[in-house]
Amino acid sequence: MAILLDGKKLSASLREELKARVEALKARGITPGLGVIRVGDDAASEVYVRNKARMCERLGMHSVVLHLPEDTTQEQLLARIDEMNRDPALHGILVQLPLPPHIQEDAVTARIDPKKDVDGFCSESLGALLKGEPGFVPCTPKGILRLMESAGISLRGKHAVVVGRSMIVGKPVSLLLLSQDATVTVCHSRTQNLRDITRQADVLVAAVGKPQLITGDFVKEGAVVVDVGINRTPDGLLGDVLFDEVQAKASAITPVPGGVGPMTIIMLMENTIEAAERAAQI
Ligand code: GUN
Repeated sequence: MAILLDGKKLSASLREELKARVEALKARGITPGLGVIRVGDDAASEVYVRNKARMCERLGMHSVVLHLPEDTTQEQLLARIDEMNRDPALHGILVQLPLPPHIQEDAVTARIDPKKDVDGFCSESLGALLKGEPGFVPCTPKGILRLMESAGISLRGKHAVVVGRSMIVGKPVSLLLLSQDATVTVCHSRTQNLRDITRQADVLVAAVGKPQLITGDFVKEGAVVVDVGINRTPDGLLGDVLFDEVQAKASAITPVPGGVGPMTIIMLMENTIEAAERAAQI
């Protein structure tokens, strides 16, 4: 039976640490601020953005949420990002993805001032991650590594298999795993014999967005399994992993919900506080 990698519990304890950092900044007259832009009416994005604003409030941070209509042009969106880039009360900026199809995500992430890029998606941040230099690390991958670290899971020499190659999770988490001396294999929609590869994993990260794709026969006995999937289905919220089957084989596993999700949001807060500390040269 696997131990549970409890993101909800860890994020609650990190929240206390972050509150102290916010208080220390406030004592110097600086309130860390996060600007969030949402475009259109994606239902999941609405929930995520609301949760981010709520967490800012709980930590005593400043937050601004801008909700723009679906037919917002790319130029209009870029202009709003420019305003937030100039606003000294905002230390971090996040544009919630996905964006409507007429807007190029790359152009949007590139427009955010790298000093405020708390999502870690601009080329400067991703370049720093690739080179192992200091910079903002994307929140979900950072949260995954933190969760394993807190459970005392060593990655050195382990075979880590990542299923999914997105810019948000798959690619950056692969680089982070590599930086911890794991041997990393990245699988994706064109991978052949996926199950043969995942069965070799000591650490398996599922980030494909396919409900319950990873069944028991995809997993080696004793593997650490991290489920990044949040799939809204008629049967409710499902991960990419069939939890009941996989937990019987794994040594550790993240639940959905309550695993990776809460870690993402707390890492966003941490990045924003770090941005404020850097701006204040602490
Ligand atoms: N959509 C899903 N995850 C994320 C994230 O980490 N950042 C942003 N901006 N959008 C997302």
